[in-house]
Amino acid sequence: MASLLPADGLHRLGVIVKDYRASIEEFSRFFGIEHWDIHRIDERRLSNALFRGQPVVHSYISAIGSKDGVALELVQPLSGDSVFAEFLKHCGEGMHHLLTNVCPAAQFEPIRAQLETNGVRVAQSGSIDDALDYYFLDTREMLAGPLIQVLCPRQGATPIALKPDEIVRFDEKITKWNRLPIQKIYHACIVTKGRREQVRDSLRDLLGIEKWFDFANESGVSAVDTTLYGKPCKIAFNLSLGRRNTLCVEVVEEVYGRSIYTEFLEQRGEGLQHLMVSICSEQAFQELRDWLDSQKMPLVMGGHAASRDFCYYGYLDTRSRLAGITMEFLCPAGKDWLKGRTEVGQILTGSEMVTT
Ligand SMILES: [Fe+2]
Repeated sequence: MASLLPADGLHRLGVIVKDYRASIEEFSRFFGIEHWDIHRIDERRLSNALFRGQPVVHSYISAIGSKDGVALELVQPLSGDSVFAEFLKHCGEGMHHLLTNVCPAAQFEPIRAQLETNGVRVAQSGSIDDALDYYFLDTREMLAGPLIQVLCPRQGATPIALKPDEIVRFDEKITKWNRLPIQKIYHACIVTKGRREQVRDSLRDLLGIEKWFDFANESGVSAVDTTLYGKPCKIAFNLSLGRRNTLCVEVVEEVYGRSIYTEFLEQRGEGLQHLMVSICSEQAFQELRDWLDSQKMPLVMGGHAASRDFCYYGYLDTRSRLAGITMEFLCPAGKDWLKGRTEVGQILTGSEMVTT
């Protein structure tokens, strides 16, 4: 079946923050982002603003920064009703939207009608500087959390052509702080309340994510040495990982036991919970552990894949520093870790150049 809105890839990940000034510094430390374009979006720059179909007066700050394979938009709502203010009120800080499509308005119009027919409404839209139309699709229920963002540059304009109100730069003291190697956003993970398959199918039908693999992670069966807050734990969860170009989404559901997913669901409900951003050696990670602890980014959960030739996986508790987001890293068991796992390797790493 043809998907409604085939994703180009992941252009940018949107995060809601309370204080953009404090957050851009923390995100620069972690990801090495050297500069941010700050846009103050209010009636000066915004026209045709609609929130759930009604005209609205609202304002927010959008801070856009990137480094290597990580592109972020941090949004601080300022005034009025918006999808951002709504999220901050109900969920607190955290990952909010995925910018998956940039296309001319003429291309999006018929797709938009199709989306409406299929029950996917526009939650918020507006035009910035009369140069760029933006849309947030209300996919919260369908995708268990994230909204999908679409940008339509008007003729001759591109999204990056928008003039920032301010540029903030960080020097090496900030950008060289993190010792964990970051390559890119390998995947973003949605935690669901027992509806992994439904959300996986919605991602396929909506965004055209066709390539998936499923994995049942269970302590003592498919995973060993599993720990939670430094103590051995017995947990089980199912995951599906799917990729379309640079857009890779993991969908998780719990089976039993307490995990970081249980905590997330209890605290704020379904939604985007972690990012996988690093593939490094297990030795490199072990050497970093004391430093990570001292920086209040301890390992919160981890384990080895039961097949010892595969990998170690760990989650760093970066929530207090990075707007509620947990960061995942993988340590391959050896250079041939993807041997015989061609399809899994391609989905996991986004690279066609995997060992077979
Ligand atoms: Fe993950």
